Amino acid sequence: MKYLDTTIFNNRSNQRYKTNTQTYWTRSPCGSNSSEAEKLSKEYFDEIENDRYSSHPWILDAINNFNLKDKRVLEIGFGMGTDHLGLLRQGADIHGIDLTLNNSFILKERLKIYGFNSSLICGDAENLPIANESMDFIYSFGVIHHSPDTGRIVSEIHRILKPGGKCWITVYNKHSLFFWWSVFLMDWLFKGRYKYESLKERISKIEYLNDNPDLVIKLYTKKQFKILFSKFCTVDCSVKHLVKRDIFYIGPYIPDRIIDFLSGLLGWYIIIEAVK
Ligand SMILES: C[S@@+](CC[C@H](N)C(=O)[O-])C[C@H]1O[C@@H](n2cnc3c(N)ncnc32)[C@H](O)[C@@H]1O
Repeated sequence: MKYLDTTIFNNRSNQRYKTNTQTYWTRSPCGSNSSEAEKLSKEYFDEIENDRYSSHPWILDAINNFNLKDKRVLEIGFGMGTDHLGLLRQGADIHGIDLTLNNSFILKERLKIYGFNSSLICGDAENLPIANESMDFIYSFGVIHHSPDTGRIVSEIHRILKPGGKCWITVYNKHSLFFWWSVFLMDWLFKGRYKYESLKERISKIEYLNDNPDLVIKLYTKKQFKILFSKFCTVDCSVKHLVKRDIFYIGPYIPDRIIDFLSGLLGWYIIIEAVK
């Protein structure tokens, strides 16, 4: 059903959507709500990092297993840079691009505090200002589903990866308990939000404190996401991340071992690891 296709955003111009993205992430940099310490202090960044990796330990496990020593790496959509720091700690020669200028300022301050350096650009991943076949590895967590032309970003990733180069990319999973149970059923249908907002508008408000119905947030199925990577030689696709608080009302009553089991089937992130 087209109405339930959560990957289409085409009512506004590409530029208008991108302005919305920049406005939202300037106001609410990803993760900034997890610390009350003085902004841009070491304590602030430490708390953000602790919170991220205690709620998403599987991200840190993945970063620690990439084997990036001296590899040329690009991170797309670095945000406040928690994973960027993790990639740097793996010894990568790392570059980053993000659409929101404020994130470059934040990350530069953060890197100074921890004594690291990387090459950061404010720009659009739909048009990467990077030479063909120049990267060994591309990392992007929770970014490309926020861009109007996600397929174009995947083509750009393919273009700039060296032959044999690898990417690790995550997007939101449509077939997740969070979406079908909490957002669609409990909130949009049962609470009657469908009477005054479309499902797409409700999905845009998934992002923390966002009330702009035109913030691009797409939800992919594994099948839809894999199709975007059809030019790659190998593509591994998996699903992760289910936390009790995201399963409205009943989450706290579900035993841990069932949550662990379900996270690989109905978790909130789809992860693709693809080799060019
Ligand atoms: C949900 S945040 C994720 C940030 C970071 N990866 C993290 O996990 O904390 C999404 C980020 O993607 C960036 N972004 C969205 N569209 C983009 C695009 N077309 N090109 C580059 N960055 C983009 C936003 O500016 C924002 O920083």
